[in-house]
Amino acid sequence: MGLGKIAPRIINGIRHSKGHLYALASRDINKSRRLCQEYGVENALTYEMMLEDQNIDIVYIATPNYLHYEHALKCLNAHKNVIVEKPIFTNEKELELCFKLANDNNLLLMEAHKGLFTPLIKKIKGLIDEGVIGDIKMIEAQDASNLKGRYDLLSAWSKDKAGAGCLFDIGVYPIALENFLSSSKIKDYQLDLKNEQSFVTFAQGQIIYENGIRAHFLTSWESDGENCAHIYGTKGSIHIHNFWKNTKAKLLKDGCEETIEVSMASDFSGEIDHFIDCLDQSLRQSPIMSKEASLEILKLLR
Ligand SMILES: NC(=O)c1ccc[n+]([C@@H]2O[C@H](COP(=O)([O-])OP(=O)(O)OC[C@H]3O[C@@H](n4cnc5c(N)ncnc54)[C@H](OP(=O)(O)O)[C@@H]3O)[C@@H](O)[C@H]2O)c1
Repeated sequence: MGLGKIAPRIINGIRHSKGHLYALASRDINKSRRLCQEYGVENALTYEMMLEDQNIDIVYIATPNYLHYEHALKCLNAHKNVIVEKPIFTNEKELELCFKLANDNNLLLMEAHKGLFTPLIKKIKGLIDEGVIGDIKMIEAQDASNLKGRYDLLSAWSKDKAGAGCLFDIGVYPIALENFLSSSKIKDYQLDLKNEQSFVTFAQGQIIYENGIRAHFLTSWESDGENCAHIYGTKGSIHIHNFWKNTKAKLLKDGCEETIEVSMASDFSGEIDHFIDCLDQSLRQSPIMSKEASLEILKLLR
């Protein structure tokens, strides 16, 4: 639902997942037909047609952030299971209402955070859980991309509507990763935000988790960043460049350096497979991207 800039990568992700890509839905049927032809998808639909089509059991929402709530409500009321692009909603009230509706209608609702489900991050989480780097003490992660002040190039919704700014856009990646790898709830946090016009263009934050792990994140539209995640434990550390899509990372331990490497066809297929696994197990929330996990991310978004 929503055939914008990210849609081609989601299409590719579904193609490499356990799911079957049945239809593309756009506000404009001609756009839908054009893209169905381009990507070889059988059914070109409008949003209204999609909601009525009984063959559809999962909708992947990839519309502007400020419309996620309205679109999720429509899909849940039409008895569709829903995966919603990050950030799932722009405030806690929307999140509570949609998860309640999903629960009442016996449907699965999940925030799409591809970065937590790539083969590399799965492997690294496994190594951390096995104790390979000991107890985690500190995590640092950043996602910053220099837009060189060309905010006019952004979609209008990403600067003047709810859910606008770099924190909602790319800041959610380091935050989601740190929350996931710390395996703990946030105890306390501090934010340093810079606003330009009506939206956040730079943000950094310090997080203290209930289990004592410290984290720092940084995001910006003003300059490029190193865009790495560093995870420091009592017995070693792991370092990942472009952690939301990479297939390689570096493990430093006992004075030696090792490469962690996996294969991956699409950075989107892991989250889609996870969603389908949850449905197959009749789960009503993902054990990884649950309502609570989305709330923990939302706490830090402004
Ligand atoms: N996971 C990732 O790596 C990743 C990367 C980029 C973006 N995203 C997320 O994906 C979502 C979409 O981002 P995008 O960059 O693809 O956005 P975009 O290029 O602006 O596309 C959004 C699409 O939403 C649909 N839409 C419905 N109502 C609309 C309205 N009133 N105004 C504008 N568009 C409307 C349109 O599709 P139709 O014309 O077909 O209806 C439009 O093409 C966002 O939530 C964003 O955070 C995720």
